[in-house]
Amino acid sequence: MARLPKNEEVGSKQFADFDLGGKTFIVTGGARGLGLALAEGLVEAGGRVYCIDIAEEPDEEWKVAQKRVNPAWGGRLEYRQQDVCDTENLSRIIEETADENQQLNGVIAAAGVNQVTPAIEYSAQDASKLLAINLTAVLETASSAAKMMIKYKCGGSICLIASMSGLVANKGMKSPVYNASKAALIQLAKNLAMEWSLPKDESTPGIRVNCISPGHIITPMVEENFRQQPELKDLWRKENMMGRLARPDEFKGAALFLLSNASSFMTGSNIVIDGGHTAW
Ligand SMILES: NC(=O)c1ccc[n+]([C@@H]2O[C@H](COP(=O)([O-])OP(=O)(O)OC[C@H]3O[C@@H](n4cnc5c(N)ncnc54)[C@H](O)[C@@H]3O)[C@@H](O)[C@H]2O)c1
Repeated sequence: MARLPKNEEVGSKQFADFDLGGKTFIVTGGARGLGLALAEGLVEAGGRVYCIDIAEEPDEEWKVAQKRVNPAWGGRLEYRQQDVCDTENLSRIIEETADENQQLNGVIAAAGVNQVTPAIEYSAQDASKLLAINLTAVLETASSAAKMMIKYKCGGSICLIASMSGLVANKGMKSPVYNASKAALIQLAKNLAMEWSLPKDESTPGIRVNCISPGHIITPMVEENFRQQPELKDLWRKENMMGRLARPDEFKGAALFLLSNASSFMTGSNIVIDGGHTAW
């Protein structure tokens, strides 16, 4: 049986399997919050990272992160303004990014929104709007990226940001469509993994697809939940085994793992990181 090629640098370089030097990545929803923290993690490992977000200007925290980039480590943080629901232009930006770099090695689909509305009051229009961002645009992001990974025969890794909300109903938060969209992403990752993980031919490696499902993280999205329902802060803290909410940077390691060679045999999986919230 043919042996798979090994990373030549293992044993001669620290953390060689996590090295993203010379590689190109896209992070949707990367203007702030979780997407930005994950993007920064990839940059620290040497990756060239393009954040795509609807915000005309990235948040101040993005600008601070860009100033922190250490050029000596080889990474770069770029910003492209784009609504992920405008799928034609989203595909164009993904294609331009791949063409400019002659490769695309990984994507994190983190753009997402939440709407807290009881199911019985949810309008069909609002439900379609949320699903267009949280589900359809994620499929579009992943498909456009996969086309480029096939075009440039570079293989790649795609990480969908789902949520523990795709596994449980969050106590106190009436967000039926959001939760359903996250459950859909966990399933979507499995289907995309089934379609794309196998190498296409000798020279076209497969594309791995996985999810990260975070628990409650303090980001602008959750701060908005707390503005609407201040009692959620304490309730959610008590719901996990660690008695606190997460910081966005606590997910960087998992994203780096998924987008690097370190997870080369992992596809179709969902990494749940929730301080034990769903474990009891
Ligand atoms: N914060 C949490 O507790 C939590 C938990 C689990 C999963 N998540 C998921 O993590 C991801 C990031 O969320 P966050 O908490 O950092 O929230 P956030 O609101 O801070 O960040 C979301 C980003 O997505 C961008 N975005 C929204 N709609 C877009 C569109 N149409 N086109 C392009 N960009 C768009 C926003 O501008 C924003 O920068 C989301 O998918 C969210 O569902 C968050």
